[in-house]
Amino acid sequence: MKDILDELEARREAARAGGGERRVAAQHAKGKLTARERIELLLDEGSFEEFDMFVAHRCTDFGMEKDRPAGDGVVTGWGTINGRQVYVFSQDFTVMGGSVSETHGAKICKIMDMAMQNGAPVIGINDSGGARIQEGVASLAAYGEVFQRNIEASGVVPQISLIMGPCAGGAVYSPAMTDFIFMVKDSSYMFVTGPDVVKTVTNEVVTAEELGGASTHTRKSSVADGAFENDVEALAEVRRLFDFLPLNNRQKAPVRPFFDDPGRVESSLDTLVPDNPNQPYDMKELILKVADEGDFFEVQKDYAANIIIGFIRLEGQTVGVVANQPMVLAGCLDIDASRASCLGRGRNTAGSSSMGRSCSLPMARRRCRRSRS
Ligand code: HXC
Repeated sequence: MKDILDELEARREAARAGGGERRVAAQHAKGKLTARERIELLLDEGSFEEFDMFVAHRCTDFGMEKDRPAGDGVVTGWGTINGRQVYVFSQDFTVMGGSVSETHGAKICKIMDMAMQNGAPVIGINDSGGARIQEGVASLAAYGEVFQRNIEASGVVPQISLIMGPCAGGAVYSPAMTDFIFMVKDSSYMFVTGPDVVKTVTNEVVTAEELGGASTHTRKSSVADGAFENDVEALAEVRRLFDFLPLNNRQKAPVRPFFDDPGRVESSLDTLVPDNPNQPYDMKELILKVADEGDFFEVQKDYAANIIIGFIRLEGQTVGVVANQPMVLAGCLDIDASRASCLGRGRNTAGSSSMGRSCSLPMARRRCRRSRS
């Protein structure tokens, strides 16, 4: 029996080692954490239950049968964030660039199915070169299955994507269908394919940052909802966002303890909104003063600054904020601002039905007046 347990532990060790010391060191050298380190930071300590740790791919082309790493480049399972259940997959770039094979895709689909059955959100940590080239159409079919589940889960359970490496092809198409997408500055990219392939095929020289870096996707395309300085900050912020969201479309968002007196008087608001409608003021100041403990989770901060969107809590309850920002373009609605404010009705589908009340400018003003009286 001891032999069996020792062998099991040895196999677990091998699976935990991912692509080996050299590749893990390369991952760290780029300022990136490994797939398992990320899960550890994202979830409550000791809460992670892993599935399919020993699954390996079935490909026999291109000599692939000689390289069958346990886990096949993705760590999947469930755990909790502040005690609430969440399903997670975390791609391991040290194993064949985190590329998606038939079995890698099946592992992701399994936890997505469980998330929908059990009414819990899915967080995908993406660090992948996309479809595994050696598997050809088998890997494309795997992506088809993942995409199908992205659609089925939409509006049923929140889907949150973290882009934490050079993500190409399907590793971008799938996150693009989820409710929230966050990137890491200078180490994460979202593109159809990488700059080397672009150069080979089109002879065009383009940097990874221009092609699909965090600045491109938070400022120009608005595909990403935010970008953070490093992996640790990104994971901590996703934990923060998670606390604003309901687990599924049949539940309400959690009500958190609050420490601000609901009847408090914020006298600075008396002078914040000018009587002259042509005079601008900073709407963010109003939001921060109205929110419980000044806690505002802003999304799309770097896109369409003439509109402000995000989440606050009022008396412990999640409230979606959509507010014109008079400081930028007089707060008028242009096409970019309209796109940003529609996030709650399009991609962010789980949010539209059940995220909580939305707090428009008139509502905020009413609250402001209440606090004046
Ligand atoms: C298999 C891959 C891979 C892939 C990377 N690797 N992408 N293996 N399939 N798609 C492997 C590399 O061979 C290498 O292996 C290791 O991962 C690290 O890759 P590097 O290129 O050394 O890293 P880096 O310089 O950081 O560049 C990362 C990258 C680049 C930008 C992702 O690898 C790249 O452009 N890959 C091709 C991406 C691509 O075209 N994907 C599209 C797939 S099509 P070793 O052994 O050296 O460590 C798709 C369509 C889906 O996804 C549609 C579904 C319907």
